Amino acid sequence: MSIQVVILAAGQGTRMYSKLPKVLHALGGKPLLAHVLNTAHKLSANPPIVIYGHEGDMLRQCLADHHVNWVEQKQQLGTAHALMQALPVLKDDARVLVLYGDVPLISQQTLQRFSKQTPENGIGIITATFNNPTGYGRIKRDAQQRVTGIVEEKDATADERQINEINTGIYLAPAALLKTWLPQIKKSNAQQEFYLTDIIAQAAENNLHIHTEQPLMAEEVMGINDRGQLSHLERFYQQQTAAEWMRNGVTIMDPARIDIRGDVTIGRDVVLDINVILEGKVTIGNGCVIGPQCILRDVTLGDNVQVKANSIIEEASIGAEAVIGPFARIRPGTKLAEQVHIGNFVEIKNSQINTATKINHLSYVGDSEIGRNVNIGAGTITCNYDGVNKHKTIIHDDVQIGSDTQLVAPVVVGEGATVGAGSTVTQDVPPRELTLTHTLVQRIVKGWCRPKKAK
Ligand code: UD1
Ligand code: CA
Repeated sequence: MSIQVVILAAGQGTRMYSKLPKVLHALGGKPLLAHVLNTAHKLSANPPIVIYGHEGDMLRQCLADHHVNWVEQKQQLGTAHALMQALPVLKDDARVLVLYGDVPLISQQTLQRFSKQTPENGIGIITATFNNPTGYGRIKRDAQQRVTGIVEEKDATADERQINEINTGIYLAPAALLKTWLPQIKKSNAQQEFYLTDIIAQAAENNLHIHTEQPLMAEEVMGINDRGQLSHLERFYQQQTAAEWMRNGVTIMDPARIDIRGDVTIGRDVVLDINVILEGKVTIGNGCVIGPQCILRDVTLGDNVQVKANSIIEEASIGAEAVIGPFARIRPGTKLAEQVHIGNFVEIKNSQINTATKINHLSYVGDSEIGRNVNIGAGTITCNYDGVNKHKTIIHDDVQIGSDTQLVAPVVVGEGATVGAGSTVTQDVPPRELTLTHTLVQRIVKGWCRPKKAK
């Protein structure tokens, strides 16, 4: 029997106080629902069914790269009513695994164990034992420890509220049984809702064995209702992610001070210092060292790259053995070849810079192509914008640009040229010559006095 995952995600998420549907709030840089979908895809080849209630277009748009069967629940009349919306698209011979869009960290391992241990024609529930079970449905058992039903907190007697074993809401049941039982559920309870939990009493009445399974970690079954719970699971997720990379040969100076938000690949013998943020699609080669307070978003680093403290790199690719920072800013569209050095207070935007070129101090380089072994002096600026259009600066190999030069684009600097310090270059520079644009001769004003503050 194949598994069909159904994800309940129609709840409004009022306690988030947000215009964003709850399941689109991010955990580790990805929507909550994307975490559940990723797990679902690993468990079954059938596209998961997602029961949604609000902002269907936004959900579809934000999760467009997932193969999903979207089913609308127009009114939120309870968890059983939500699952009922899936009945028309459920195959009779499927086993239905119910998950939640706001319980993001349920693991593939736990669910695989759960589906293996639950008999194919039987019912399974994932339960957990919590010191403080407040708010959850409680698992009722008879003297032989057989599950007899689930009682919601609001419907429970004082005795039932003492039960510590709680319902996580994750179930596994044959579709055929759900098709029989769900339409029989009534809303005769405190919340006047159709409770999915009632299927457990139905199963018990029909003398079906109800298997229970526990998650490895409590966080796997924790739901997110407010931003406090979101931040709690975010920190848990970050610690788990850090632990996994450390097992794979990455040195993380402090696993409590790192944030990995997105899809990351990290080589061997990489060092990540404190407060590093990796976002989006980041690939880090072997032997790279990322200094403290660096942000890398959608970046590829070759082997042995050094990114020094407080540097920000976005949508860029950096060649092997490059050295960046401290305090460098590499903006989108930048491609640096091997051994390029970018120093402090240098901003590079949309530029290709070839092997072993150095831009070490206080520069702005935008919309440029720079050759090999070029040295760009401190304070050099490409004036790439005329107020209307952006223009290109092309600098060929082995060029030396003196400090405090302005290159007014469009402009080409020929191979091996030298530009004198303080030049304002408005025309193309010929190769292998020295170009200067000094118009002032240094003047000495004798006897000049500095102005003094009036007392
Ligand atoms: C539910 C369980 C409770 C369990 C708890 C675990 C029921 C009756 N109770 O309670 O035993 O301990 O989860 O967290 O099932 N949803 C819909 N449509 C609806 C109602 C809910 O899609 O009409 C979705 C919500 O988006 C949410 C999930 O179902 O993801 C759970 O609903 P919620 O109202 O939060 O149930 P609880 O009261 O927490
Ligand atoms: Ca809930």
